[in-house]
Amino acid sequence: MSKTILVTGASRGIGYETALKLASENHTVIATARSQDKLQELSNTAENGKIIPVTADLTKPEDITKIAAAVESTKGLDGLINNAGAVHRQAFMDTDIEVFKKLMDVNVYGIVRLTQALKPHLRKGSHILNISSMSGYQGSLKFGGLSAYGAAKAAVVGLSEVLSAEFAEDNIAVNCLCIGAVQTEMLENAFPGFEAPVSPQQMGSYIANFILTGHQFYNGKVLPVALNDPS
Ligand SMILES: NC(=O)c1ccc[n+]([C@@H]2O[C@H](COP(=O)([O-])OP(=O)(O)OC[C@H]3O[C@@H](n4cnc5c(N)ncnc54)[C@H](OP(=O)(O)O)[C@@H]3O)[C@@H](O)[C@H]2O)c1
Repeated sequence: MSKTILVTGASRGIGYETALKLASENHTVIATARSQDKLQELSNTAENGKIIPVTADLTKPEDITKIAAAVESTKGLDGLINNAGAVHRQAFMDTDIEVFKKLMDVNVYGIVRLTQALKPHLRKGSHILNISSMSGYQGSLKFGGLSAYGAAKAAVVGLSEVLSAEFAEDNIAVNCLCIGAVQTEMLENAFPGFEAPVSPQQMGSYIANFILTGHQFYNGKVLPVALNDPS
């Protein structure tokens, strides 16, 4: 059966491929990011009119209202993929507190704003999937220079677990994937030259499948999706 799924951070990388995969399986996708041109290209690539682009900055409350308005014109959401994110790599002692605030704003408060705005539109039996990172997964191998990013991604983990408890009575599942290296612009910016073992297409397919089926098996779970051992 065709579902309606909202994907944030859909203008490139993992979100772009997740949106394309869902549309190719005939699901309706509301795709958001700040880059209007890239969202339009995504929508055109899908060809079957299954991708509805909504240009929005998740740090701006007025843009959150815009996304909610687009969702209102649907019959409700079956899935919300909070995938948008930003990274910053710098030694902790040189990282200004403003950088911490900026990364929290995009990676964490963006999820908070959007989830609060869309909760009334999430159907019973729907699934919220938050995309975190191995940088925020307790006990995994960490890399210096990612303190602001790791702190924000760890906050996504905690937020996901609490929301799963709170939303259970509404029959809305919440899970969190802590993913490992995927070959995207974000990875290239943070670790130039590093070759990831997973492509955005592969991870997009995995996430597309997980939003549709994961909540039949998991709720309130924080799952490492990485080839390296989280030791
Ligand atoms: N790639 C990896 O190795 C890796 C590893 C672990 C976790 N992750 C996580 O996976 C997710 C996707 O990462 P990616 O590698 O695909 O990154 P990416 O290629 O840099 O894409 C990030 C997406 O987030 C959007 N975005 C950034 N700031 C935004 C804002 N203020 N408002 C709205 N949208 C915003 C960007 O769109 P616009 O610029 O058009 O707004 C873009 O579509 C992120 O949460 C990331 O932390 C990635």
